Amino acid sequence: MTLLFKCDHTDPEPWLAALADQMPEREVRVFPELGAREDIEFALVYEPPPGLLASLPKLKAIFSLWAGADHLASDPELPPLPVVRMVERCMTASMTAHVVHQVLAFHVQALDYRTLEVERHWQQLDLTAPWDRRVGFLGLGSLGGDAAEKLAALRFDVAGWTRTPKEIAGIGCYHGSGGLSAFLARTDILVCLMPLTEATQGILNRQLFDQLPRGACIINCARGGHLVETDLLAALDDGHLGAAALDVFAEEPLPDDHPFWGHPRIVVTPHIAAFSVAETAIESVVANIRRVEAGEPPLNVVDFTRGY
Ligand SMILES: NC(=O)c1ccc[n+]([C@@H]2O[C@H](COP(=O)([O-])OP(=O)(O)OC[C@H]3O[C@@H](n4cnc5c(N)ncnc54)[C@H](OP(=O)(O)O)[C@@H]3O)[C@@H](O)[C@H]2O)c1
Repeated sequence: MTLLFKCDHTDPEPWLAALADQMPEREVRVFPELGAREDIEFALVYEPPPGLLASLPKLKAIFSLWAGADHLASDPELPPLPVVRMVERCMTASMTAHVVHQVLAFHVQALDYRTLEVERHWQQLDLTAPWDRRVGFLGLGSLGGDAAEKLAALRFDVAGWTRTPKEIAGIGCYHGSGGLSAFLARTDILVCLMPLTEATQGILNRQLFDQLPRGACIINCARGGHLVETDLLAALDDGHLGAAALDVFAEEPLPDDHPFWGHPRIVVTPHIAAFSVAETAIESVVANIRRVEAGEPPLNVVDFTRGY
């Protein structure tokens, strides 16, 4: 078995070291050194040139080097093979740490206490027990599902909204357009962890905000395209929303003159909520290669018709 590796945006050395460590018996070729194309059975790639994957006659599966697979969907000659998105334990653990941090910060009113501290003003604000703080996840997939479970373990009142029905112990499950209003009405801290698709583009808008209780907080760790930025600013400025923590933006890097910078009720982080490291990412790729070689379908295959 030969694997083709292609990525121009990262140092290949840790990836090649992890592949050599975890698949010592396999050959790895680094693009553009293809050698005999008929040897290549798996491709681990980011932004392959259009037509490259179609030119590999024995290819069995395509692995995206990053969480998203849009860089593959844009290849007009993408062969009809399983495309596997990156789901791996470092990405999941880092996203969960980020989301738990932002939820806890809103829960303990960190922004308000920071302001009071700067003013040297000793004031105790109303306290809320974790089980009286309702956290709601838009998306309970590999990332939202893990963070939701961890917050439920911390005794928060956790629910999630998904496209298809779910049953998860300890988490209130809502789904589809019929379930959205009831889900929003019971949510004090809303976390967006959905893929960006036609159905979810601009979902964080004024109409959705108005269905949240007054003072609700927003955490967006998914994609900038989910949020209508002007609607967020208006809802914060008129006091309907309490605060927002944003990791992703319509334009990245966030422009210097953007009103989110320095806004007293917005926490900005520069798209760092979750990250992969070669060692754990390759663990997940190797496990999937072993499944394919055992005749089983790979896990985490992208369904391009539903958009994720
Ligand atoms: N900020 C960062 O650093 C960073 C890093 C990695 C990823 N991300 C973002 O995180 C997103 C989520 O990743 P993931 O791995 O958790 O994705 P995932 O496993 O595919 O889960 C997606 C979840 O969203 C739900 N969903 C999708 N479309 C929906 C719709 N129209 N209505 C209601 N629910 C819908 C799905 O519902 P079903 O369960 O019914 O399918 C699923 O629960 C990614 O797409 C990416 O944008 C951000």
